[in-house]
Amino acid sequence: MSRVTRQRQPSVDLVRQLGIREALLLEQDDVAPSGGVLYVVDGRDRKPLAAARRPGFSRVDLWAAVFDKAYGGQSDDPLFDVSSWTSRVSGEAFSHEEMHDWVDCAVDGILALGGRRIYEIGCGTGLLMWQLIGRCEQYLGSDISAVAVGRLQAELAQRRVTNAAVTRCEGIDAGVPGIDRIDTVVINSVAQYFPDQDYLRHTLDEALNSLRGGGSIFVGDVRDLGLLDALLYAVHLRKEPGAEPAARGHFVRSTARRELELLLSPQWFVRYAEERGLDIRVMPKAGLFDNELDRFRYDVVLRPPTERTGPQLELSDWPSDGSGPEKLRRALAHGGQLGFRAVPHAGVSALAAAAHSAVYGRQAPPYEQADAPSAVRPSDIARAAAASGRSAALSLAGDRPYGAFDVAIGIDDPFALPTVAGTRSAACSGPRGVGQVADDITRAVRSLPPSDRPAAIVALSRLDGPLPPPLALEAVEP
Ligand SMILES: C[S@@+](CC[C@H](N)C(=O)[O-])C[C@H]1O[C@@H](n2cnc3c(N)ncnc32)[C@H](O)[C@@H]1O
Repeated sequence: MSRVTRQRQPSVDLVRQLGIREALLLEQDDVAPSGGVLYVVDGRDRKPLAAARRPGFSRVDLWAAVFDKAYGGQSDDPLFDVSSWTSRVSGEAFSHEEMHDWVDCAVDGILALGGRRIYEIGCGTGLLMWQLIGRCEQYLGSDISAVAVGRLQAELAQRRVTNAAVTRCEGIDAGVPGIDRIDTVVINSVAQYFPDQDYLRHTLDEALNSLRGGGSIFVGDVRDLGLLDALLYAVHLRKEPGAEPAARGHFVRSTARRELELLLSPQWFVRYAEERGLDIRVMPKAGLFDNELDRFRYDVVLRPPTERTGPQLELSDWPSDGSGPEKLRRALAHGGQLGFRAVPHAGVSALAAAAHSAVYGRQAPPYEQADAPSAVRPSDIARAAAASGRSAALSLAGDRPYGAFDVAIGIDDPFALPTVAGTRSAACSGPRGVGQVADDITRAVRSLPPSDRPAAIVALSRLDGPLPPPLALEAVEP
């Protein structure tokens, strides 16, 4: 994080009146917007969330209806039905090649976990199922969409598949035969439809219980909260190629507030793993195609802790002189161990920094400049590693800004990369998420005279860790 130029005590009245535990107002020359960022540690008890299911309405039912409709049409190929997959950035359907690559990466990631009996929550049209059933002992799946489940059941029966079964339910169907033997739970491209973080936590707990102390959970294709601004900036670039930065900033802020899905930062999962005492990996996507799915989403693996053979790996700073890519190439070619922290993600870090500038009207940190010569695509590293027969572990578990990731070449244990739980107290969108967490504080701040009003409020769990740059959802002005 960049240099603090001014640090002010926020309005004492405000802090006292609202009972906030700690607060810090920062004004920085290059990151923070004018007016500064108000960082608060909100130590007050919060009311429990209303139950996710309320009579007559539930977000889960809403998504079930949406997916029933999406799956309602005729499919040319029932084993590879990608008719509902469209890119927000390009505005067009993903090509079959893009979707094949996306499915292959997920399937490889799941099979690499070594499990043989898989349960998939939210199996959809069976994109993963049809690839997995021939390569595992048993596949069980469930989905809230009656249309999806009905179709898969009919296809499985017609093809006389005996090692797979699909049921309609939320989460895991505890009554289905074989449930007591599963060793891998898959939740791929589904968490974004969960109503809130409590629902996700409950589903992960349920998955852990089903694993009975062994196995792994693969949470794939998670939409990255920290990259929502970058995604929306890219959408606006396509829609309005010649727009002014202020118009882009307005679009990003207002669209972020209308987002219907649950977005999560990698640090949400790191914190969950810490709470439950689990091993965790958070990986950037490393597909062949540089598209929305590859840039703005990530995969998580959670598993009960195993014994560490060595200490957590020490990483070096990514060289500021542009020599990083060459150093990685040499390590891949000549052996030895090498690890870097905060490698700028080609195509993503620059967008994220530009989005920050557009939303807050200030120059963003050096990622924007770093992007051109020395930023790297995770997929390029993964492919170079595969070609040289060496291991390359890529990680988003280290809480780096603007989509930057950590990389380690030549290590045996990819779970040994540093994990940082992050300081943002609500690392998700939606109820009690980043947009809503400080509702009453936001109201009070908006009523301050303009000269005292910060441009953004970021709620933190503590003030002694890294202070994250504000997201568009944290802007004070609507
Ligand atoms: C984008 S599709 C992903 C399908 C599949 N996992 C894949 O990777 O191709 C999301 C699926 O999740 C299902 N879904 C959404 N919310 C769910 C929930 N709470 N429990 C179970 N399934 C859910 C939807 O019905 C939909 O079929």
